[in-house]
Amino acid sequence: MAEAISIRDIGNYVGQTVTVRGWIYDRTDRGKLQFIQVRDGGGVVQVVAYGPDLPPETFEQVGRLRQESSVIVTGVVKENPKAKKSIPEGYEIGLQTLEVLQIAGDYPITPKEHGVEFLMDNRHLWLRSSRQWAIIRIRATIIHAMRNFMDDEGYLLVDTPILTPTAGENTTALFEIDYHGEPAYLAQTGQLYNEANMMAFGKVYCFGPTFRAEKSKTRRHLQEFWMMEPEAAFLSLEEMMAFEERMVGYVVRQVLEKHQGELAIIERDLSKLEAITAPFARISYDEAIERLQKKWAELPEGEEKDNLKITWSEDFGSPHETAIAEMFDKPVFVYHYPSAIKAFYMQPVDGRPEVCRSVDLLAPEGYGEITGGSERIWDPELMEERVETMGIGREAYAWYLDLRKFGSVPHAGFGIGIERTVAWICGLPHVRETIPYARMLSRKYP
Ligand code: 4AD
Ligand code: MG
Repeated sequence: MAEAISIRDIGNYVGQTVTVRGWIYDRTDRGKLQFIQVRDGGGVVQVVAYGPDLPPETFEQVGRLRQESSVIVTGVVKENPKAKKSIPEGYEIGLQTLEVLQIAGDYPITPKEHGVEFLMDNRHLWLRSSRQWAIIRIRATIIHAMRNFMDDEGYLLVDTPILTPTAGENTTALFEIDYHGEPAYLAQTGQLYNEANMMAFGKVYCFGPTFRAEKSKTRRHLQEFWMMEPEAAFLSLEEMMAFEERMVGYVVRQVLEKHQGELAIIERDLSKLEAITAPFARISYDEAIERLQKKWAELPEGEEKDNLKITWSEDFGSPHETAIAEMFDKPVFVYHYPSAIKAFYMQPVDGRPEVCRSVDLLAPEGYGEITGGSERIWDPELMEERVETMGIGREAYAWYLDLRKFGSVPHAGFGIGIERTVAWICGLPHVRETIPYARMLSRKYP
């Protein structure tokens, strides 16, 4: 009696008759021999149909299979080092019986080159392609590794709401919705709620989708992205950097350990990932500005130079982040940004309130910011002042101000963007391939 197996386990079945259920990835015809690649979502196996061994109807049926037709095949598993297209490599099935569930219509995505807009329009199908398949599998491992790390470090997963009454980060990038006749907003961050949860549980994290109606059309910006946000009582900025460094190192090692096959499909330079070990460099915003200005001075006149111009007090744009990140072959921390360009809740530096206890982690190879965080203001008066200056009305933030009244403590936290982390680890030029269905300024289909 044949057994339905997962292709990824095929190595356990050499010499046995098995059944595989899935889709036709490819077919080649060599006269009396036909090869079909069958994928089941977890792997791919070469299935060999040898004419003389099969009933003629079966052999003809194989010849009619088109890309993405759905099938159930049964046959004997063999080792074959030449079965290079199989995942895992080196196995094939000698076809005995074939059941066709559906002959697929003309599949729009063929081995020829397609433009990226066409592929994004067909994202619901594009996900089946090996490159996209590899990226999304690595994404899953990155998320899993981050959560594992947090759990092992004693952080408790506490979910934060997505429908919120006020801005969490800044007021300009809010998606407003109608909440039974009143405005509500899609969460840009879980942070403010994390702070309340941190006071209840000590060390917490949230993980979920966040929304930013940003008018940015860069290769780093999505309207909907996923973020993991840890928050801990009594955590200092320096301790947080050490924590981030360990977490990022762990995540990269997990990907290297579990995804050699996927990394090969996307042709990632492994040496770049193997180099990601603690410690990462730490430079102040002041030093970053100096380095940028030095680089600017050395550049010949032109667009690159114009884009890199920056003075102290300005926020980094993509070109600045890219330039700093390129100066290091590991991620680099940039800390103590000007308070004026950061969120209202960031703790000022003692004796130098124009800068704050904030830190961003910039990924190498020009990827730029992947995490952002800070120590939080814990003094009730100062926090009240900051909330006032936002001009939203303190009633809305009454609950947040409460946190500074009832046993306020120094604390810190950060957010790590999943898509930017996936883009960097996979070496992708754009975040649109890092998420199953990208939401961008000019795209919400499919
Ligand atoms: O630096 P951000 O805005 O930080 C916060 O939201 C804090 N409240 C987090 C915290 O302290 N709990 O965002 C954090 C990270 C960025 O470093 C980036 O990786 C990602 O979220 N991110 C985006 N990713 C894709 N598209 C966008 N539009 C993003 N905006 C931020
Ligand atoms: Mg940021």
